[in-house]
Amino acid sequence: MKKLFALVLALAMALSLVACSSSSSSTPAADPDPAASTPAEPAPAAAAPTDVPNAEKPVIFFNRQPSNSQTGELDMDALTFNDKTYYVGFDAVQGAELQGQMIVNYLQNQDPETLDRNGDGIIGYVLCIGDIGHNDSIARTRGARLALGTAMPDPNQGLSEVKGINDVDSQPIGTNKDGSSTTVQDGTITIGGKEFIVRELASQEMKNNSGATWDAPTAGNAINTWVGDFGDQIDVVVSNNDGMGMAVFNAWSHEAGVPTFGYDANSDAVAAIADGYCGTISQNADVQAYLTLRVLRNALDGVDIMTGISTPDAAGNVLDSSVYKYDEATRCFYALNGAVTADNYESYLDATAANPGFSNQLSEADAPTMKVWLDIFNSTDNFLNGTYLPQLENYDGVLNLDVEYIKGDGQTESNITDRLANPDAYAGFAINMVKTDNAAAYTSKLQ
Ligand code: BGC
Ligand code: CA
Repeated sequence: MKKLFALVLALAMALSLVACSSSSSSTPAADPDPAASTPAEPAPAAAAPTDVPNAEKPVIFFNRQPSNSQTGELDMDALTFNDKTYYVGFDAVQGAELQGQMIVNYLQNQDPETLDRNGDGIIGYVLCIGDIGHNDSIARTRGARLALGTAMPDPNQGLSEVKGINDVDSQPIGTNKDGSSTTVQDGTITIGGKEFIVRELASQEMKNNSGATWDAPTAGNAINTWVGDFGDQIDVVVSNNDGMGMAVFNAWSHEAGVPTFGYDANSDAVAAIADGYCGTISQNADVQAYLTLRVLRNALDGVDIMTGISTPDAAGNVLDSSVYKYDEATRCFYALNGAVTADNYESYLDATAANPGFSNQLSEADAPTMKVWLDIFNSTDNFLNGTYLPQLENYDGVLNLDVEYIKGDGQTESNITDRLANPDAYAGFAINMVKTDNAAAYTSKLQ
C-alpha cells in the first residue's frame, strides 16, 4: 500500500513537473523581420506608440477565441498575427465537465419524488444555449449532455460514437416532447435507488431579433413558451451561462422551485444560491482580467511573457499555478474553473473583488503608463459587463495601463472595428470579437 502511494506520488510529481515546464515557457517566437527587432537599448519597450508600427504592437484576444465558428478549429493566422499576439480565456472543456458533474451530483442527492414533478419517471430538462458558433457555449452544451447521458455523436464530425466530450452533438434540438430527437437521446439516472429516464425536452440558442447571442431576455421569454408547452414535465433548467440562467430563474423557476444551473458565478447568481439557484461555475474572471492586461503589459515592456504570471514581478504579483495554464504552441492562456454551489458560495459572493495576490502597483520606472485599446463586444452581456469589466478595472491602474474601453452592440463587428480607426494612438490592443471567425476584421486595421 505504502509502495503504491509512493509510486502514485512520484508519478504525480513527474506529471506536475511536466505541467510546470509546459506552462512556464518564456520568450515569444522569433520575429521574422530582423529589422523589426529594434535597438536593444534599455527603453524600446517604453517607446511612444507612434514609434512602433501598428502591425508590431501587442494584440491580446480575450473571451472569444479566434476560431472557426463551424468547426471550432483555432485560427492560427490570428493567433500568430505577430510575436506579441496571445489569447486569454478559460478552459472550456474542464469547465463544461465540471458543470455537468455539478448538475448530476445535485440531482443524485435530491428526493426523487419532489424532483420528478409530474411523477412520470422522467427527469425532463430544458437547456439555454448561448451561441452555437462559440467554443465555450458548445463545450457547455456538450458537457451537460454527456453528464446527463443524453449525448449523441456529432454528425458534423462524421462520428457514430461518443468517446469524449468533444464528440458530442451540440446543436439545439428545438423541442423533444416524446424523446424522438436524433440530436439527443434519453439518458438514465439513479436517484434514491430508483432509475429515472433523463430527457432534454427543449433547447434553443438564445439569440435576439437583432442577432445578439447569449441573450438573457430571450431566455426569459423562452421559458414562458416552454412552460406553456411542457408544464410540469420540466424538472430541471440548465443554462450555458448565468445571464440566461438568472433570467429563467427570475421569470419562472425560482417561484416554481425548479432546480436551475448556470455558469460564470456572476454576483447576482451567486447571491441567488441562498435563494434556491442551484449552482454555477466560476471561470475565475479575476485571473482572466489580470492575464488579459498582464500579457499586454509584458508584451509592451518586452519582458518575459510569464512575468507576474508564473514568476513574481518586481511588485510581487504572481498567479498560483493551480488557477491557469498556458499552451505555448497556440499562445493561449486559460484560467481554470471551479464549481460554486450551496456548499461554498459564500466565498464567491463578490465576483468583482480584486485579488490581493496580483493587485500590487507597478512602478512607473518599471512599467511606464501606456494607452491601450480594449473592446467588450456586447454592452449588455451580464458576465462581461458585470464581472469581467470591473475586474479589468481592478488591474488596469495597477499595471499602469490607461485603457480606453469600447463597447459594442453584441451583433455588429463593424460597430466595434470602426472605433479602431486610429490605432496609432494606442500602444496595444485587447480584442473581444463578436464572431470568433472575425479576427482579420481587427488585425487588418493594424496592417
Ligand atoms: C461567458 C458568457 C458570455 C460569453 C460572451 C462566456 O465565457 O460564460 O456568459 O456571455 O462569454 O462571449
Ligand atoms: Ca417528470
